Amino acid sequence: MKILLTGKNGQVGWELNCSLSRLGTIFAMGRNDMDLSKPETLGPVIQEIRPDIIINAAAYTAVDKAESDPELAMIVNGIAPGVIAEEAEKIGAGMIHYSTDYVFDGKATSPYKEEDATCPLSIYGKSKLAGEKAIVQASKNHIILRTSWVYGLRGSNFLLTVQKLSQTRNQIKIVDDQTGAPTWAKSIADGTAHILEQRLKEGKAKSPIFAHPGIFHMSCGGKTNWFGFANKILEISNLSEGTEVIPIPTIEYPTPAFRPKYSLLSNRKLKQVFHHEMPKWQDALQECLSSAP
Ligand SMILES: NC(=O)c1ccc[n+]([C@@H]2O[C@H](COP(=O)([O-])OP(=O)(O)OC[C@H]3O[C@@H](n4cnc5c(N)ncnc54)[C@H](OP(=O)(O)O)[C@@H]3O)[C@@H](O)[C@H]2O)c1
Repeated sequence: MKILLTGKNGQVGWELNCSLSRLGTIFAMGRNDMDLSKPETLGPVIQEIRPDIIINAAAYTAVDKAESDPELAMIVNGIAPGVIAEEAEKIGAGMIHYSTDYVFDGKATSPYKEEDATCPLSIYGKSKLAGEKAIVQASKNHIILRTSWVYGLRGSNFLLTVQKLSQTRNQIKIVDDQTGAPTWAKSIADGTAHILEQRLKEGKAKSPIFAHPGIFHMSCGGKTNWFGFANKILEISNLSEGTEVIPIPTIEYPTPAFRPKYSLLSNRKLKQVFHHEMPKWQDALQECLSSAP
């Protein structure tokens, strides 16, 4: 299987490059190879490689910056995924794409299901929702995986920020009124590999045709808030001593982008259709930190 992967240097992209290598030949693309801010340049690259599947892990992920940079966020997250889906459709390739819990407004009180009404509060959320819609319109053979609160040992993320702050401060204030599920980038990559592997086993062709295309939620299990996540990071990293984590409400930590107060995603459909169970967030965090060199 020929796999075209975008965003190879991102948290999820990097893990995908490792997790998917057993499934075929990966053509891993960075920003210089496929720039999603120039959607008109994507077609020729895709047509030249003619992959069996395109996995789009590239995205404009700076949630707060997007508020003052809406055009670029919309091109990268909203328009380019649709162009990739169109090009995939032309050559009969499947497409896997990632989206976010931030397509929801956070007013729910139980985990969001795939069919629940979307209502993003931020430019980032709006741009990601536009990308979902563009893909659904352009391609029949797609899987969109919505995930949440992604972290890993590379790039820029909450885990690394908390660890870094603990080195220089004896008090860190963290919001405790946003509920969600931290998700290790490797758990997403492993889940993606599982989906592909299962389709390949079932299908006769080397190219995956998804029997159940559409949107799936894929977050680690359980729930917490950013304060709880920070405490667990410090506890497992043996950095709790000397650093006090103080819970604060979101109102005391204003950011340019609004975030949902509650963005837990139900993984039930993922389990039913693909028989895949995501790890509990605490277990994934433990494994992630244990894998640190
Ligand atoms: N991070 C989260 O908390 C989170 C939460 C929910 C959903 N998601 C979704 O999960 C997916 C993976 O996110 P992630 O956490 O792995 O993001 P990430 O670590 O920020 O990686 C994003 C990648 O996209 C690349 N990129 C940005 N603009 C680009 C452009 N114009 N052309 C080509 N590549 C570009 C970046 O390239 P450079 O390396 O050159 O910067 C980077 O490698 C995304 O779809 C994201 O929306 C993320």
